[in-house]
Amino acid sequence: MDLGLKGKNAAITGSSQGIGNAIADSLAQEGCNVAISGRDQERLDQAVKNLMAKGIKAIGVNCDLSSDEGCKKFISETVEKFGGLDILVNNVGGMIPGTLDNMTEELWNTVLNTNLMSYVHTTKFAVPHLKKSSEGRILNVSGVTGKQLLPGALTTTIPNTAIIGFTKIMAAELGGDGITVNNICPGFTNTESWGPRAEKMAEVRGITSDQMRDGVSAQTLLGRWAEPKEIGDAAAFIVSAKNSYMTGTTVEVCGGFAKYI
Ligand SMILES: NC(=O)c1ccc[n+]([C@@H]2O[C@H](COP(=O)([O-])OP(=O)(O)OC[C@H]3O[C@@H](n4cnc5c(N)ncnc54)[C@H](OP(=O)(O)O)[C@@H]3O)[C@@H](O)[C@H]2O)c1
Repeated sequence: MDLGLKGKNAAITGSSQGIGNAIADSLAQEGCNVAISGRDQERLDQAVKNLMAKGIKAIGVNCDLSSDEGCKKFISETVEKFGGLDILVNNVGGMIPGTLDNMTEELWNTVLNTNLMSYVHTTKFAVPHLKKSSEGRILNVSGVTGKQLLPGALTTTIPNTAIIGFTKIMAAELGGDGITVNNICPGFTNTESWGPRAEKMAEVRGITSDQMRDGVSAQTLLGRWAEPKEIGDAAAFIVSAKNSYMTGTTVEVCGGFAKYI
């Protein structure tokens, strides 16, 4: 199926590796130009090189998206280089394990500024450009902890539930401009950042990281973790021209981790 993404311009936050990079890759595969972001220049350059090899325009913007300034830089450089914007994917974030007792104010500021407020700021800077597109799309990447209770996941549950609310309200505010706003909830996904994180979580629980990983697999209906490409391909469909009547919707791509009806 041709998703109608050829020649469109997309900006994906937090995308030099992991799920963001997989989304950029799936969009590039469809002929969509992609702007990616990250703070590590070497990783960013390598990711841009890989994307350009698919024959599309790709740029990397080095910016810290935990600040309003960084979000502004990402969108303005993207629009300057591409001449417009059709698709925004808010993806940046990640889990900082913590409890009510051991999370400091500084850590909370990092989590909330990166995993939540960056979505608000980047959307604010992108909307004037998306309004000029004939098929403006916003996709927010939250996580299954925004839908399914996962005891211990305090720091992701808060931004993820808020992102779902943000998606709904933006869908209402931008529907009149023909812009769709949706949300995708990945389940546990085999990204680079899970290597050290799984080790750390396993250590706290007194188990091995393999036992920790197997425990997660057992909680899904498919009995395994997701590969980043599986999230990327679902995201590419959601932001495509083919997906024209879905807005304000949360799509779970979690292998059946979420058990509610
Ligand atoms: N992996 C999972 O199992 C899973 C499950 C559910 C939901 N999610 C969600 O999916 C999203 C992506 O997760 P992931 O696992 O793919 O993350 P990841 O592997 O840690 O990748 C994060 C990306 O964002 C960039 N980044 C991080 N902080 C940044 C900042 N302040 N400014 C600019 N760029 C920044 C990183 O590059 P630099 O470090 O170089 O900046 C990297 O490219 C997150 O929102 C996460 O909550 C993930």
